[in-house]
Amino acid sequence: MLRRRARELRAAGRDVIELSSGDLDFPTPDHVIEAAHRAAQRGETRYTNVDGTVELKDAVRETFRRQHGLAYERNEIIICNGSTQALANALLATLRDGDEVIVPAPYWAPYLAQVRLADGTPVLVPCPQNNAFKLNPEDLRAAITARTRWVVINNPVNPSGAVYTSAELSAIAAVLLDHPDAWVLADGLYEHIVLNGSSARTIAAVEPRLKDRTLTVSGVAKTYAMMGWRVGYAAGPAPLIDAMSNIQSQTTSGASSISQAAALAALTGPQDLIAERAAILARRRDTFVASLNRCPGLSCPYPDGTFYALVSCAGLIGAKTPAGSLIETDREFAGYLLEAVDVAVVAGADCGVSPYFRASFAVPAERLAEAAARIERACLALSGK
Ligand SMILES: Cc1ncc(COP(=O)(O)O)c(C=O)c1O
Repeated sequence: MLRRRARELRAAGRDVIELSSGDLDFPTPDHVIEAAHRAAQRGETRYTNVDGTVELKDAVRETFRRQHGLAYERNEIIICNGSTQALANALLATLRDGDEVIVPAPYWAPYLAQVRLADGTPVLVPCPQNNAFKLNPEDLRAAITARTRWVVINNPVNPSGAVYTSAELSAIAAVLLDHPDAWVLADGLYEHIVLNGSSARTIAAVEPRLKDRTLTVSGVAKTYAMMGWRVGYAAGPAPLIDAMSNIQSQTTSGASSISQAAALAALTGPQDLIAERAAILARRRDTFVASLNRCPGLSCPYPDGTFYALVSCAGLIGAKTPAGSLIETDREFAGYLLEAVDVAVVAGADCGVSPYFRASFAVPAERLAEAAARIERACLALSGK
């Protein structure tokens, strides 16, 4: 709804600042674009293996080894059309009617839709701000049933920017070790967007006894600003990868040959830009979150990872807009920001957390400063808080 309205306003000539997207404003690196161009000229324009080119699979294996100390064989890796497809393949390949998938909330909304599409039942476990939006192991234990098929562990977390420490992942793993039938869907798409100088671990590396029932998912989208190239990958037990590949064969036949050549260049080329870009995002976060915290009625913790701020608007629920409407929900607050000051954000209700909104800071610094000023103006214009 809000997305459509933002498009309509833009089409009507309004200068909408888009803080609701999962895109980064950085360009895909030149050497990656050049590699894609060369691949096309070399004639790499045919179907590849359904589960990806051997070269890219080997680069992914090397990436998992270097980054997490995890060793996988070729038949334990699949390349997909974005990590979105890797996740969908896994759920479609494994869920039977009514199987449960535990999803910590706040969450990335497509987890829920994908589980339902595969005839499964999402089971939400709230992760409140007073636990830094992280999954409490005892809450996880209480949510697991005989029907639990998967537990989603997204680290760093979209939308809160929380980053689990090794100790926190170990405590979650300890619960999972008591439940051998529950598998782990470890989504590390933002693993390189860590803003506090540390790095994000993945659960199969922290607890190797879980490796044979964990699917570790990642991709090039956020690490190399390659959202539109649509390449993601996953590593896990060979029979699961094989089942995912069968689904992929019948649905998309695999990722684009040119995009796979580009992803190969990204994974095997210079990696310095990862830290450089994380440093830029950290500076933007610092300025943006400080500005949001100056807005009356808003409060926002500093995220350790991703490029999202998850902002509480609890202090503005019950306020009145200058036009006289009452703001009762975060959706209404997000709608007000869009209508009143042309800033698009994601309502917390769409990520399983209310009353909050998610605002991206992967936009140029001047636009971000302008957005923060507009949000402040909108908050100041509310009455009766
Ligand atoms: C947590 C999370 N997982 C997976 C994805 C899917 O990304 P892609 O399909 O571009 O690899 C996203 C995209 O924003 C995301 O936020």
